[in-house]
Amino acid sequence: MTPHRLVRLFATVFLLSAVSAVDAQEARKDTAPASDHSTLDDFIHRAPPQPTEIWLRSAGGRIYDNWWEALGRKKPDGSHPAYPKSGQRAGANTWRCVECHGWDYNGKDGLYGSGERFTGIKGIRTAAGRDITRIMSLLRAAPHGYTPEMIKDEELRRLAIFVSRGQDNADRFIDLKTGNVKGDRTRGAGLFHTICAACHGFDGRLLNWGTAQEPAYIGTEANTFPHEVLHKIRNGHPGAAMINLRGFPFKDAIDILAYTRSLPTK
Ligand code: HEC
Ligand code: HEC
Repeated sequence: MTPHRLVRLFATVFLLSAVSAVDAQEARKDTAPASDHSTLDDFIHRAPPQPTEIWLRSAGGRIYDNWWEALGRKKPDGSHPAYPKSGQRAGANTWRCVECHGWDYNGKDGLYGSGERFTGIKGIRTAAGRDITRIMSLLRAAPHGYTPEMIKDEELRRLAIFVSRGQDNADRFIDLKTGNVKGDRTRGAGLFHTICAACHGFDGRLLNWGTAQEPAYIGTEANTFPHEVLHKIRNGHPGAAMINLRGFPFKDAIDILAYTRSLPTK
């Protein structure tokens, strides 16, 4: 064998083993944790060894919010085929459950009854209490068409559990027109300062998901989309190492939400 050929042979062997190492890594990502102990990435994108009802509901809520961020998948291309032409949104966001069904889960009969998020599509409240497998098949079929490559069966189950058993109804607490929240602000302040402030700061301005010119802080969000903030408090933020209050009384989340409306918006 010429030295030239030998180099080629070695290069091929090296390449093949590198490819199979990547394959093995990919496969492991979905089955077992990447290391022998649980990692922050497991917390953000994967499930605990024995998922509890509390965890399942909140994990389903994060999938409802944004499934590709929650699960660490590829963002879908183009708009969802069932998103109405008359709607004002386009692109990947139209694949989020929340875009068609709303932060109050009430579609055209609630928060998204008018304005730029209006689609005319009904909410999912009518599906509360429905059989989990029926909800799962509904999401695989038209008009939804979510494939196992997008959301795996086990993950779809979490989402169905959220739909069937995890929907909060805040109608009594949040005024749809004004956004005013009926809650105990003083108690909310105590909860915020001892829980949320660890990451968001006492004034909610430590994390900014907007820009320097147009900041988006908790205060900003709470004064524009209180239902969205409530959803995050109850389920966490998809793709982020954020806690959630799913395991605590609903009133706790409402009191925190009421307080966040007094935080600085810019
Ligand atoms: C592009 C818009 C769109 C998106 C995104 C979307 N849906 Fe739907 N959904 C619909 C339409 C349209 C219907 C049918 C409503 C009807 O019966 O008129 C529906 C119906 C439903 C129903 C049945 C409601 C009932 O009472 O029968 C459930 C549950 C549901 N969707 C859950 C979800 C979940 C969970 C997701 C996210 C994975 C999702 N949807 C994403 C458009 C959408
Ligand atoms: C352990 C850290 C941590 C704690 C505790 C925490 N958060 Fe978060 N939160 C995050 C991170 C990280 C993000 C993602 C920020 C980003 O996208 O830049 C986030 C995002 C958010 C968002 C949404 C951002 C968006 O894009 O819409 C809201 C609202 C929010 N948190 C509210 C709260 C509230 C209220 C509490 C207390 C109940 C809380 N968080 C507690 C880490 C935390």
